[in-house]
Amino acid sequence: MKAVVDPDRCQGHARCWEISPEVFTLDAEGHAHPLTEEVPTDLTPAAHRAQRNCPERAITLT
Ligand code: F3S
Repeated sequence: MKAVVDPDRCQGHARCWEISPEVFTLDAEGHAHPLTEEVPTDLTPAAHRAQRNCPERAITLT
């Protein structure tokens, strides 16, 4: 599974990082980025929780 953050939607709420710091990191402006291209299988539940909790719906999991 891949995680993608839409830079036009991400407003830096940081919930993804708080919920799933193994999957997402924040840049200097506070915008989220996936740490790895491929989300490890054991982290997919956390990635889904992060996706559901992003108020901007900026995270896509494919
Ligand atoms: Fe951005 Fe949503 Fe995370 S707005 S910092 S992707 S919670």
